[in-house]
Amino acid sequence: MEKQKKESRYKRLYSQIEELLKKCNDETARMATISAVLYNKMDYFFWCGFYRIIEDKLIVGPYQGPLACQVLLKDKGVCWACVNLKRTIIVPDVEKFPGHIACDSRSKSEIVVPLKDNNGNVFAVLDIDSKERNSFDEEDAKYLEKTIMLL
Ligand code: SME
Repeated sequence: MEKQKKESRYKRLYSQIEELLKKCNDETARMATISAVLYNKMDYFFWCGFYRIIEDKLIVGPYQGPLACQVLLKDKGVCWACVNLKRTIIVPDVEKFPGHIACDSRSKSEIVVPLKDNNGNVFAVLDIDSKERNSFDEEDAKYLEKTIMLL
């Protein structure tokens, strides 16, 4: 998606999500709302959802898109790299990321954003996949990081 279109789309969705989240404080409901809005309004999002850290594993949370892996074992794949490095990871070509976990072979690029508690500890990630290579850039990182702060 072209940079300006992407930026204005993210800004519009941010306001929409901000408004929707005023209605409910439950974390699962909020994650579900964020994933539904992003997935349905960003046409290059093929899978969009959350993984939460539970007892040293990443367990899938609310998501939209094709069936995903339910459990990601510790320290494997892009989501765990995001948890361990505590920063957003952009993968332009998943086949070139050692250890990438392919829940669906149609996914070609990916972005994973960490969710941190008040002490800076990562407790979950937002993971988004695309069927095209090179779908995600700094613009996605900037607006997705801003959006998950609404949680
Ligand atoms: N590709 C991720 C696994 C989750 S799916 O993309 C939904 C990973 O390597 O951690």
